[in-house]
Amino acid sequence: MGEGVLTVPGGQDTGFVPDPVLLLEDAGLSRHDGALLDGGVSLARVAGDFGTPAYVYNADVIRRQFRELDEALAAVPHRICYAVKANSNLGVLRVLRDLGAGADIVSEGEMARALAAGFSSDRIVFSGVGKREDELRAAIAAGIGHVNVESMAELEVLARLAEDAKTPVPLGIRVNPDVTAETHPYISTGKRGIKFGIPLDQVRPAAAMIRKHPGLELVAIAMHIGSQLTDTQPFAEGAGRLVELVDAVRADGTTTLRELDVGGGLGIRYLDEQPMSPRAYAAALVPVVKPTGLTLYLEPGRFLVGASGVLLTRVLFRKHSGGKEFVIVDAGMNDLERPSRYQAYHGIIPVEQRAGAPLVADVVGPVCETGDFFALDRDLAPMEPGDLVAILCAGAYGFVMASNYNTRPLPPEVILDGGRAWLSRPRQAVAELFRSERVTSEDR
Ligand code: LLP
Repeated sequence: MGEGVLTVPGGQDTGFVPDPVLLLEDAGLSRHDGALLDGGVSLARVAGDFGTPAYVYNADVIRRQFRELDEALAAVPHRICYAVKANSNLGVLRVLRDLGAGADIVSEGEMARALAAGFSSDRIVFSGVGKREDELRAAIAAGIGHVNVESMAELEVLARLAEDAKTPVPLGIRVNPDVTAETHPYISTGKRGIKFGIPLDQVRPAAAMIRKHPGLELVAIAMHIGSQLTDTQPFAEGAGRLVELVDAVRADGTTTLRELDVGGGLGIRYLDEQPMSPRAYAAALVPVVKPTGLTLYLEPGRFLVGASGVLLTRVLFRKHSGGKEFVIVDAGMNDLERPSRYQAYHGIIPVEQRAGAPLVADVVGPVCETGDFFALDRDLAPMEPGDLVAILCAGAYGFVMASNYNTRPLPPEVILDGGRAWLSRPRQAVAELFRSERVTSEDR
């Protein structure tokens, strides 16, 4: 059995590659007479209305994920600040705002999106290792909930900016807790020697500096240890270190702490992972956090939106070359970069099941790089030119990482809600891609 198939009894013997049932459930997908429905809406219809490639998000899946996490944490005061970077579509943001989420942002642009979607500024947390002075100024002016400071140098900038602030600027210290989190090295962020956070031994000096400054107020101790984590242990370990620091800075005289921010990172199932449940996550964190009396802040991105999204694409060609089979689709690495960048696995299933022989093939896009693939040597259900396929778990770090490489327009973003599909963001027109460019210096 190849990498692409979750075990379904009898599947292989019939020459039929079954749908990965758990992935379908996670994503709110179902089959009706062989046709794929997303939140009850026919994906073939969505492709007919909006074309391919297209991102499609199921609002009910986002709601389910949010509620599950929110309910699991009922034993402590908490706020779920959605990590806007995972999917910053305004319609998606509005769904999360309506559920009562706050927002975690990393740029002035994300702040503008969060505000445009209706988040109130005091529910926004500003994270990030390299904030520009103008971005910090804008965040302070907007009355942001708190800024997570990631270096002593950034703290000095904030101290200067806060000199003329009318009310103290609320800050969090993002700590590098030096814990190992098992995930792709590019997205492991809590270990000593990587660029994120203030090292453990600089936290008390940073807190002391904030205490002395009348324009600054330390409200949070924070971490974010990595993304796509499936185990509770590093969260518990990291949170334990944060609590030690809370005790230490309180003993030093800090009286203003309100929040313990444990970041994002909850993983999801892309293939056969068994990610921790929200209950298990809560069971690991609640006992650690509760004695501090602080409000637990989280910054989940992927967990809330990852499974909600599919990238719809159409098979353009099949080809046999060099002893290998290729399925060439109309989406490329510019639309969904994760397989190419992190060798990430995404399920690929036909929108309409057809008879025929299953195949083992590379699923590739039109971009001019060998790295432009969605799957390598994958067991696939029968698919032929003209067929629609859905690339699963594309709701997080999908569209937001898309680019115009090869002068390809960004795909549309469609939201499914209440059995209806609506277009939140239209496909870019090719003319838009270079409208503001000039051919020569005289050009106007
Ligand atoms: N908070 C901070 C400060 C972060 O840097 C991140 C993600 C999050 C929260 C949300 O993490 P999540 O809950 O989504 O794991 N492009 C990569 C993921 C990069 C994650 C960056 N930081 C991917 O496609 O896997």
